[in-house]
Amino acid sequence: MAKRKYNSYMDKLDKGAILRAIDGSFFKEVTVYEKINSTSTFAKEADIGTVIFAAEQTSGRGRSGKSFLSKKGGLYFSLVLPVSTAKEVPLTMLVAVAVSQAINSLAKVETQIKWVNDIYLKGKKLAGILTECLFDKIIVGIGLNFYAVDFGELGQTATSLFKTQKAPFSRAELAVEIIKNIEKLLVIERSQYMEYYKSHSCVLNREVRYFKNGVEFSGKVLDISDDGALIIESEKGQSSITSGEISLKF
Ligand code: BTN
Repeated sequence: MAKRKYNSYMDKLDKGAILRAIDGSFFKEVTVYEKINSTSTFAKEADIGTVIFAAEQTSGRGRSGKSFLSKKGGLYFSLVLPVSTAKEVPLTMLVAVAVSQAINSLAKVETQIKWVNDIYLKGKKLAGILTECLFDKIIVGIGLNFYAVDFGELGQTATSLFKTQKAPFSRAELAVEIIKNIEKLLVIERSQYMEYYKSHSCVLNREVRYFKNGVEFSGKVLDISDDGALIIESEKGQSSITSGEISLKF
């Protein structure tokens, strides 16, 4: 069998190759930048159906106003979708499933999903998803630590898919797989991907801490509803959480 050619550090994000690979998809426009502040910020000015990539971001944005470290060697891209998409499906969870499935099938690993949509590998954060709803569009920004980089202090909690600067597939191949997965999941029954979401959840049946109306609570995650709410049992009884951050109690 022919030996698989390895991509080297910072494989090229080739616009033409990406466009050819997603031919026939909803996404018709691809823009690739070497270095910009944030693909999701640029996406605000882009048309629906555009995908924006950057090899590096100087002000990568995460959820809850946090920053997202976006050094060279990661995969950073944003998709511009019609606002109607999120009215019909729990988009945040759907994208988490699409990202997790793409990584698992290409890299032959088992990622987990931390509510709402962080992707974890062996207990450390591998990828994050930022969904932003504007007046007329939804921007889904995906950031994934692909090649090894120096995470600095974040090294305690973050990881990359590959520990070196070589990989058996390119960042573009992974992005294309994610895009195709999103499109597939958008046309299937919600219960089908929610099943995957739950079976790959690292919070289900676990003790967690969370904030509700500024007050800290802890409890056990009993279930995740089909519209994405966490059902938690605490001393005060059962409650459901639809937004915010939770942390696992070890
Ligand atoms: C999170 O973990 O809180 C979400 C991180 C989302 C990061 C991606 S990288 C591409 C896009 N551009 C950004 O500035 N953010 C998203």
